[in-house]
Amino acid sequence: MAFVVCEPCIKCKYTDCVDVCPVACFHEGETMLAIDPDECIDCGVCVDECPVSAIYPGDEVPEKWQAYIALNAQYAKEWPVVEEGHDPLPTAEEFKNIAEKRAHFSPNPPANG
Ligand code: SF4
Ligand code: F3S
Repeated sequence: MAFVVCEPCIKCKYTDCVDVCPVACFHEGETMLAIDPDECIDCGVCVDECPVSAIYPGDEVPEKWQAYIALNAQYAKEWPVVEEGHDPLPTAEEFKNIAEKRAHFSPNPPANG
């Protein structure tokens, strides 16, 4: 089962995960990334790269974040592929320790296209 980007990514987008993924299966939304479950090869190298521990194997996603499994699958099909890491969002420092931030999720693609 593919790996899943969960709530801690929202408003942070550090993108360290992108630079280690061997198959470019990360897709970028305005406030977070999503992994395409049809492309992820379950290598697991992205997990330890994320400064906010947002990435989990599909069968180990915490109960409170189960909805992110379907969310990744849906938005990976709608958002563009991101192949190179970039600066975190300007809000990353402010939001990195905020536990509840689902309300800040945006279904839109990144503003810069
Ligand atoms: Fe990419 Fe591997 Fe992470 Fe899947 S588990 S998103 S293939 S780095
Ligand atoms: Fe998000 Fe962590 Fe990657 S914050 S962009 S999952 S490094």
